[in-house]
Amino acid sequence: MRIRVVFGGSERRLDVEEGEPLALALRGAGIPLRMECGGTGACRTCSVRIGGASILYQGAVLRIPEGDTWSVCSCQTAVAEEGGTVEVPATSLSE
Ligand code: FES
Repeated sequence: MRIRVVFGGSERRLDVEEGEPLALALRGAGIPLRMECGGTGACRTCSVRIGGASILYQGAVLRIPEGDTWSVCSCQTAVAEEGGTVEVPATSLSE
């Protein structure tokens, strides 16, 4: 599935696998996402904002309402639908 990623003043299209934690997809694409707890869901340093798509979170598919964005731990979240936008805030980027 292809998503749009906005970070550090840049924008990219990124292919993600179904069920793949978003944090791993972002890091795999070279985006320097912070993950201080190593992906256990405890630190929230991997927080991103996502909109325009459904997400898979703790085994449930959740639909983000049109025009809304949610802040989620990207290590605990997968994209469940093509076409969403993920914004990585500066506070979630290392350096
Ligand atoms: S890496 Fe710590 S909550 Fe995601």
